[in-house]
Amino acid sequence: MAELKGEAKQRYVSDMFARIAGRYDLMNTLITGGLHHRWKRKAARLTAHGLTGDALDVATGTGDLALALAGCPGVTQAIGVDVLPPMVALAEAKARKRNLTEKAVFVLGDAHALPFPDGTFACATAGFSLRNMTDLPGALAEMARVVQPGGRVTTLELTPMPPGKKSGLARFYFQGLVPLLGQVVAGDRAAYTYLPQSVDRFLEAGRLAQVFQDQGLIDVGYQRLGFGAVTLHWGHKPP
Ligand SMILES: C[S@@+](CC[C@H](N)C(=O)[O-])C[C@H]1O[C@@H](n2cnc3c(N)ncnc32)[C@H](O)[C@@H]1O
Repeated sequence: MAELKGEAKQRYVSDMFARIAGRYDLMNTLITGGLHHRWKRKAARLTAHGLTGDALDVATGTGDLALALAGCPGVTQAIGVDVLPPMVALAEAKARKRNLTEKAVFVLGDAHALPFPDGTFACATAGFSLRNMTDLPGALAEMARVVQPGGRVTTLELTPMPPGKKSGLARFYFQGLVPLLGQVVAGDRAAYTYLPQSVDRFLEAGRLAQVFQDQGLIDVGYQRLGFGAVTLHWGHKPP
Protein backbone atom coordinates (compact mmCIF):
# COMPACT_ATOMS: atom_id res chain seq x y z
CA MET A 1 0.00 0.00 0.00
CA ALA A 2 2.98 2.29 0.55
CA GLU A 3 3.34 2.50 -3.24
CA LEU A 4 0.01 4.34 -3.64
CA LYS A 5 0.15 7.89 -4.99
CA GLY A 6 -2.06 10.96 -5.22
CA GLU A 7 -5.70 10.74 -4.18
CA ALA A 8 -5.55 6.96 -3.67
CA LYS A 9 -2.69 7.43 -1.16
CA GLN A 10 -4.54 10.22 0.69
CA ARG A 11 -7.69 8.06 0.90
CA TYR A 12 -5.69 5.08 2.18
CA VAL A 13 -3.79 7.20 4.74
CA SER A 14 -6.95 8.96 5.97
CA ASP A 15 -8.90 5.68 6.33
CA MET A 16 -5.97 4.10 8.17
CA PHE A 17 -5.52 6.95 10.68
CA ALA A 18 -9.28 7.14 11.23
CA ARG A 19 -9.24 3.41 12.14
CA ILE A 20 -6.30 3.64 14.55
CA ALA A 21 -6.89 7.13 16.04
CA GLY A 22 -8.13 5.75 19.38
CA ARG A 23 -5.04 3.55 19.84
CA TYR A 24 -2.54 5.92 18.20
CA ASP A 25 -0.98 7.31 21.41
CA LEU A 26 -0.70 3.94 23.10
CA MET A 27 0.94 2.41 20.02
CA ASN A 28 3.45 5.30 19.76
CA THR A 29 4.41 4.82 23.38
CA LEU A 30 4.78 1.05 23.00
CA ILE A 31 6.73 1.21 19.73
CA THR A 32 9.18 3.87 20.95
CA GLY A 33 9.31 2.86 24.62
CA GLY A 34 7.95 6.34 25.40
CA LEU A 35 10.85 8.08 23.62
CA HIS A 36 8.55 9.84 21.14
CA HIS A 37 7.61 12.31 23.92
CA ARG A 38 11.27 13.22 24.39
CA TRP A 39 11.83 13.62 20.62
CA LYS A 40 8.74 15.82 20.32
CA ARG A 41 9.79 18.04 23.24
CA LYS A 42 13.21 18.43 21.64
CA ALA A 43 11.66 19.23 18.25
CA ALA A 44 9.33 21.82 19.82
CA ARG A 45 12.19 23.52 21.70
CA LEU A 46 14.30 23.69 18.55
CA THR A 47 11.37 24.91 16.43
CA ALA A 48 10.52 27.83 18.71
CA HIS A 49 14.04 28.69 19.92
CA GLY A 50 14.62 32.46 19.97
CA LEU A 51 11.35 33.26 18.14
CA THR A 52 8.21 35.07 19.29
CA GLY A 53 4.71 34.56 17.90
CA ASP A 54 2.29 31.81 16.94
CA ALA A 55 3.55 28.32 16.12
CA LEU A 56 2.04 25.77 13.73
CA ASP A 57 2.03 21.97 13.96
CA VAL A 58 1.08 20.37 10.63
CA ALA A 59 -0.67 16.97 10.62
CA THR A 60 -0.83 17.27 14.38
CA GLY A 61 -2.65 13.96 15.02
CA THR A 62 -3.44 13.77 18.74
CA GLY A 63 -1.64 17.09 19.26
CA ASP A 64 1.54 16.17 21.16
CA LEU A 65 3.84 18.49 19.22
CA ALA A 66 1.38 21.40 19.28
CA LEU A 67 1.01 21.01 23.04
CA ALA A 68 4.80 20.88 23.44
CA LEU A 69 5.07 24.06 21.33
CA ALA A 70 2.44 25.73 23.52
CA GLY A 71 4.79 25.28 26.49
CA CYS A 72 7.81 26.86 24.78
CA PRO A 73 8.99 30.38 25.71
CA GLY A 74 8.03 32.93 23.03
CA VAL A 75 5.09 30.92 21.68
CA THR A 76 1.93 33.01 22.00
CA GLN A 77 -0.37 30.27 20.69
CA ALA A 78 0.16 26.87 19.08
CA ILE A 79 -2.16 25.84 16.26
CA GLY A 80 -2.42 22.17 15.31
CA VAL A 81 -3.92 21.33 11.94
CA ASP A 82 -4.98 17.85 10.78
CA VAL A 83 -7.10 16.51 7.95
CA LEU A 84 -9.04 14.07 10.17
CA PRO A 85 -11.89 15.12 12.53
CA PRO A 86 -11.26 12.23 15.00
CA MET A 87 -7.60 13.29 15.39
CA VAL A 88 -8.59 16.94 15.95
CA ALA A 89 -11.17 15.81 18.56
CA LEU A 90 -8.52 13.74 20.41
CA ALA A 91 -6.06 16.67 20.35
CA GLU A 92 -8.72 19.03 21.71
CA ALA A 93 -9.57 16.58 24.50
CA LYS A 94 -5.86 16.42 25.44
CA ALA A 95 -5.65 20.24 25.52
CA ARG A 96 -8.75 20.39 27.78
CA LYS A 97 -7.27 17.81 30.15
CA ARG A 98 -4.09 19.91 30.46
CA ASN A 99 -5.96 23.24 30.77
CA LEU A 100 -4.29 24.46 27.60
CA THR A 101 -7.32 25.29 25.44
CA GLU A 102 -6.32 28.99 25.25
CA LYS A 103 -2.73 28.22 24.37
CA ALA A 104 -3.28 25.28 21.97
CA VAL A 105 -5.98 25.38 19.30
CA PHE A 106 -6.79 22.65 16.79
CA VAL A 107 -8.34 23.05 13.35
CA LEU A 108 -9.17 20.89 10.36
CA GLY A 109 -7.07 21.43 7.27
CA ASP A 110 -4.96 19.85 4.55
CA ALA A 111 -1.17 20.13 4.76
CA HIS A 112 -1.06 20.64 0.98
CA ALA A 113 -3.26 23.76 1.16
CA LEU A 114 -2.90 25.19 4.66
CA PRO A 115 -5.83 27.43 5.64
CA PHE A 116 -3.60 30.37 6.68
CA PRO A 117 -2.30 33.50 4.93
CA ASP A 118 1.40 33.86 4.06
CA GLY A 119 3.68 34.67 6.99
CA THR A 120 1.18 33.87 9.75
CA PHE A 121 3.54 31.94 12.04
CA ALA A 122 6.90 32.44 13.71
CA CYS A 123 7.62 28.76 13.13
CA ALA A 124 6.10 25.52 11.86
CA THR A 125 6.75 21.86 12.49
CA ALA A 126 5.44 18.47 11.36
CA GLY A 127 5.96 15.20 13.22
CA PHE A 128 6.00 11.75 11.64
CA SER A 129 3.70 12.89 8.88
CA LEU A 130 5.81 13.78 5.81
CA ARG A 131 5.85 10.12 4.72
CA ASN A 132 2.09 10.28 4.45
CA MET A 133 1.95 13.33 2.20
CA THR A 134 0.93 12.88 -1.43
CA ASP A 135 3.18 15.81 -2.41
CA LEU A 136 6.13 16.15 -0.04
CA PRO A 137 7.76 19.22 -1.68
CA GLY A 138 4.30 20.85 -1.88
CA ALA A 139 3.62 20.24 1.83
CA LEU A 140 7.04 21.66 2.81
CA ALA A 141 6.48 24.64 0.52
CA GLU A 142 3.20 25.29 2.35
CA MET A 143 4.99 25.25 5.72
CA ALA A 144 7.57 27.70 4.36
CA ARG A 145 4.80 29.91 2.91
CA VAL A 146 2.91 30.33 6.21
CA VAL A 147 6.09 31.10 8.19
CA GLN A 148 7.31 34.69 8.51
CA PRO A 149 10.64 35.74 6.97
CA GLY A 150 13.33 34.72 9.46
CA GLY A 151 11.04 31.99 10.84
CA ARG A 152 11.87 28.32 11.22
CA VAL A 153 10.50 25.12 9.66
CA THR A 154 11.28 21.77 11.28
CA THR A 155 10.22 18.17 10.79
CA LEU A 156 10.59 15.02 12.83
CA GLU A 157 10.44 11.88 10.74
CA LEU A 158 11.37 8.23 10.49
CA THR A 159 13.96 8.06 7.72
CA PRO A 160 15.72 5.02 6.22
CA MET A 161 18.76 4.18 8.34
CA PRO A 162 22.28 4.08 6.91
CA PRO A 163 23.30 0.43 6.27
CA GLY A 164 24.91 -1.37 9.22
CA LYS A 165 24.21 -3.50 12.25
CA LYS A 166 21.72 -0.99 13.71
CA SER A 167 19.71 -0.88 10.49
CA GLY A 168 19.43 -4.71 10.49
CA LEU A 169 18.08 -4.64 14.04
CA ALA A 170 15.69 -1.79 13.22
CA ARG A 171 14.44 -3.72 10.18
CA PHE A 172 13.74 -6.78 12.33
CA TYR A 173 11.95 -4.60 14.88
CA PHE A 174 9.87 -2.49 12.47
CA GLN A 175 9.04 -5.25 9.99
CA GLY A 176 8.67 -8.18 12.40
CA LEU A 177 7.54 -6.95 15.80
CA VAL A 178 5.72 -3.68 15.09
CA PRO A 179 3.08 -5.24 12.77
CA LEU A 180 2.47 -7.92 15.42
CA LEU A 181 2.08 -5.24 18.10
CA GLY A 182 -0.30 -3.40 15.76
CA GLN A 183 -2.39 -6.52 15.37
CA VAL A 184 -2.56 -7.30 19.08
CA VAL A 185 -2.90 -3.78 20.53
CA ALA A 186 -4.59 -1.76 17.78
CA GLY A 187 -6.34 -4.67 16.03
CA ASP A 188 -4.83 -3.38 12.78
CA ARG A 189 -1.87 -5.27 11.37
CA ALA A 190 -2.21 -3.51 7.99
CA ALA A 191 -1.64 -0.03 9.46
CA TYR A 192 1.52 -1.14 11.24
CA THR A 193 2.76 -2.99 8.15
CA TYR A 194 2.30 0.20 6.12
CA LEU A 195 4.52 2.07 8.66
CA PRO A 196 7.85 0.26 7.92
CA GLN A 197 7.00 0.08 4.21
CA SER A 198 6.48 3.84 4.09
CA VAL A 199 9.83 4.40 5.85
CA ASP A 200 11.61 2.14 3.33
CA ARG A 201 10.16 4.18 0.47
CA PHE A 202 10.91 7.54 2.11
CA LEU A 203 13.85 9.84 1.44
CA GLU A 204 17.16 9.30 3.19
CA ALA A 205 17.91 12.19 5.62
CA GLY A 206 20.40 13.97 3.32
CA ARG A 207 17.92 13.96 0.44
CA LEU A 208 15.17 15.33 2.69
CA ALA A 209 17.53 18.20 3.63
CA GLN A 210 17.86 18.90 -0.11
CA VAL A 211 14.04 19.11 -0.42
CA PHE A 212 14.09 21.74 2.38
CA GLN A 213 16.63 23.74 0.34
CA ASP A 214 14.59 23.30 -2.84
CA GLN A 215 11.72 25.13 -1.08
CA GLY A 216 14.00 28.14 -0.53
CA LEU A 217 14.85 27.34 3.10
CA ILE A 218 18.35 28.23 4.25
CA ASP A 219 20.73 27.10 7.03
CA VAL A 220 19.25 23.63 6.64
CA GLY A 221 20.52 20.88 8.90
CA TYR A 222 19.51 17.68 10.61
CA GLN A 223 20.22 15.52 13.62
CA ARG A 224 19.59 11.81 13.99
CA LEU A 225 17.75 10.62 17.09
CA GLY A 226 16.36 7.28 18.27
CA PHE A 227 19.47 5.20 17.43
CA GLY A 228 19.43 6.70 13.94
CA ALA A 229 15.85 5.74 13.05
CA VAL A 230 14.42 9.25 13.55
CA THR A 231 15.67 12.51 12.04
CA LEU A 232 14.99 16.07 13.15
CA HIS A 233 15.39 18.49 10.22
CA TRP A 234 15.40 22.29 10.34
CA GLY A 235 15.58 25.19 7.95
CA HIS A 236 14.91 28.93 7.97
CA LYS A 237 12.93 31.22 5.74
CA PRO A 238 15.31 33.92 4.51
CA PRO A 239 14.81 37.24 6.35
C1 LIG B 1 1.67 9.50 11.91
S1 LIG B 1 0.45 10.68 12.32
C2 LIG B 1 1.43 11.95 13.09
C3 LIG B 1 0.68 12.66 14.19
C4 LIG B 1 1.51 13.61 15.04
N1 LIG B 1 2.10 14.65 14.25
C5 LIG B 1 2.56 12.88 15.84
O1 LIG B 1 3.74 13.25 15.71
O2 LIG B 1 2.22 12.00 16.61
C6 LIG B 1 0.06 11.39 10.77
C7 LIG B 1 -1.06 12.39 10.82
O3 LIG B 1 -1.14 13.02 9.54
C8 LIG B 1 -2.49 13.32 9.29
N2 LIG B 1 -2.62 13.60 7.85
C9 LIG B 1 -2.53 12.73 6.82
N3 LIG B 1 -2.66 13.37 5.66
C10 LIG B 1 -2.81 14.70 5.95
C11 LIG B 1 -2.98 15.87 5.18
N4 LIG B 1 -3.01 15.81 3.84
N5 LIG B 1 -3.11 17.05 5.80
C12 LIG B 1 -3.08 17.12 7.17
N6 LIG B 1 -2.94 16.04 7.96
C13 LIG B 1 -2.79 14.84 7.36
C14 LIG B 1 -3.22 12.09 9.79
O4 LIG B 1 -4.58 12.34 10.00
C15 LIG B 1 -2.45 11.80 11.07
O5 LIG B 1 -3.02 12.43 12.17
